[in-house]
Amino acid sequence: MKFLGISGSSKLDSLNTLLLYNAFELLNKEHNWEVVSTANIPLFEQSNEETDEVKKLKDKVKEADIVVISTPEHNHSYSASIKNAIDWLSVPLDRNPFRWKVVATMSATTGSLGGPRAQEHLWIVLKSLGAVLVPGPEVFVVNADKKFLNGKLTDENSKRYISELLNNAIILAKALKYALVENMK
Ligand SMILES: Cc1cc2nc3c(=O)[nH]c(=O)nc-3n(C[C@H](O)[C@H](O)[C@H](O)COP(=O)(O)O)c2cc1C
Repeated sequence: MKFLGISGSSKLDSLNTLLLYNAFELLNKEHNWEVVSTANIPLFEQSNEETDEVKKLKDKVKEADIVVISTPEHNHSYSASIKNAIDWLSVPLDRNPFRWKVVATMSATTGSLGGPRAQEHLWIVLKSLGAVLVPGPEVFVVNADKKFLNGKLTDENSKRYISELLNNAIILAKALKYALVENMK
């Protein structure tokens, strides 16, 4: 399977970017993965041409079997950075790369209750684009500034939930691939 991790943070030392690297390191070696940031995506404006960064991100989402988005919670919702990137990817709507794409979400926040609201808001947006959301388990790494040591996620519960989420994403992507092929016959 080909995984694409999209970090909803534009910070260089982002906890969400770190979470994605740690998540994919839990995968078996047979899978391919890559993590991209939303830092270089310009502010969305419908009348503007797509920049190379936007085109590259669109291609990467198209080519991925599974997209994993990790978003910070900003003021009880997702980050402006992830919404901005999604808005670019969403046009034209009928050819947007999230249609029939298996998407899992997670979050790392420094707050002790952060994440659920950000992800719930993100699910609404992704559903509107036709993404197939991995139903769970829900992965919220709270107090995340205390859960990494030298760049490595130390919280065993988070690691267990992430592994289950990625495994469920693989099952869903395999089932969906089969169903879409059958549908074309
Ligand atoms: C504008 C702003 C709003 C924030 N709002 C929340 C919040 O609602 N809940 C929360 O848990 N953390 C909140 N935080 C703290 C973030 O969880 C923290 O900055 C986290 O490191 C962001 O992830 P990142 O390191 O990947 O950018 C906020 C941070 C900023 C800058």
